[in-house]
Amino acid sequence: MRTQVAIIGGGPSGLLLAQLLHTRGIESIVLERRTKDHVLSRIRAGVLEQGLVRLMEEAGCAERLHAEGFAHDGTLIAYGDEMFRIDFRDLTGTPVIVYGQTEVTRDLYAAREAAGGQIAFEVDDVVIHGADTEAPTVTYTQKGKAYRIEAAFIAGCDGFHGVSRRSIPEAQRQEYEKVYPYGWLGVLSETPPVNDELIYANSHRGFALCSMRNENLSRYYVQCALSDSPEDWTDAAFWAELKARLPSETAQALVTGPAIEKSIAPLRSFVCEPMRWGRLFLCGDAAHIVPPTGAKGLNTAASDVHYLFEALAQFYATGETEGIEGYSARALARVWKAERFSWWFSSLMHRTADQSEFDHKMQIAELNFLRANRAAQMAMAQNYVGLPY
Ligand code: APR
Ligand code: PHB
Repeated sequence: MRTQVAIIGGGPSGLLLAQLLHTRGIESIVLERRTKDHVLSRIRAGVLEQGLVRLMEEAGCAERLHAEGFAHDGTLIAYGDEMFRIDFRDLTGTPVIVYGQTEVTRDLYAAREAAGGQIAFEVDDVVIHGADTEAPTVTYTQKGKAYRIEAAFIAGCDGFHGVSRRSIPEAQRQEYEKVYPYGWLGVLSETPPVNDELIYANSHRGFALCSMRNENLSRYYVQCALSDSPEDWTDAAFWAELKARLPSETAQALVTGPAIEKSIAPLRSFVCEPMRWGRLFLCGDAAHIVPPTGAKGLNTAASDVHYLFEALAQFYATGETEGIEGYSARALARVWKAERFSWWFSSLMHRTADQSEFDHKMQIAELNFLRANRAAQMAMAQNYVGLPY
């Protein structure tokens, strides 16, 4: 088989790239290890920056997003029994859109299928050959049969555990990592959200987050020990802990119900440099990971896809390679800003066992400063709604 762009990974990065390339008549083949149903079963954050919304519009996939997504003009920050609001629209003129990543992925699959896009599911043994040559290839198996794709370019959109990043020679890669000493226990419940905007809470018992998917589907998180497993937490224990971490008025308003999904995610910051090796380009979680505190995972994958799409569109339209040559540096410049914001917000809102009382006082002092200072709120709002591409 031959194609212009072989895309490894059928998550949001791979699908968005494939659909954007399609709008310029650039062919691709997406190779996905799992089934479509499995990919769509993943529960992920659901806060979209305007940049991603615009990309979905450019890809012709934004109709349901605009119909069912919720514009949020701000977010609430709680500490102890205190709570204040960061007004995104007043500070930046921009809201964020709350719309589940699963729905973004569903819309992208629907668009690829409508366009007759090539997606191979349940592929195994994906191997990238000659990424640093003029004629790279990708081999894989599917249902025991071997396949080989000759591609002009390869997009590694296969997430943190994929093969693409490791296809860059170790001696050429520089990896940066911070593993946080806590996880997030997340619960999905068919209950009305406790507030119509998100609430990020720093309590002496640990971090909590109140989010939502729609008016009758709520998403809640509490910081938990890395040694915890979901089975350690009954629904009653989860709700009691969440209430204990929220301002009392909010806790009283909380509507609880059975958890229809309960999972624990570890938190890490990770960046691989460079994000390109010859004709192989890394996008999204294949190249970087952020703690979910700032909701930057999907949104930073989107800016990677934007830069790579622009570079490949330029090449196929004019033969120029400025975008291709500059891809890694351009993507990394924004990646590191998202890493910094995610690390800062996580450090501000979580409690760790090694924190001294002084450290906690510094958190409270920073929260008080953020509450009172418009410039500090502006900086936070600009990062949260999304820095420019
Ligand atoms: N071959 C083919 N497909 C693979 C392979 C492989 N060797 N390894 C992984 N994959 C697939 C996974 O099954 C997954 O569907 O690649 C896809 C990668 O998708 P994501 O992990 O969702 O990464 P990405 O598309 O970059 O999206 C980033 O997703 O995980 C969240 O928090 C993350 O919000 C961020 C977003
Ligand atoms: C979510 O709704 O799952 C969510 C929202 C905001 C975050 C993280 C997760 O920062």
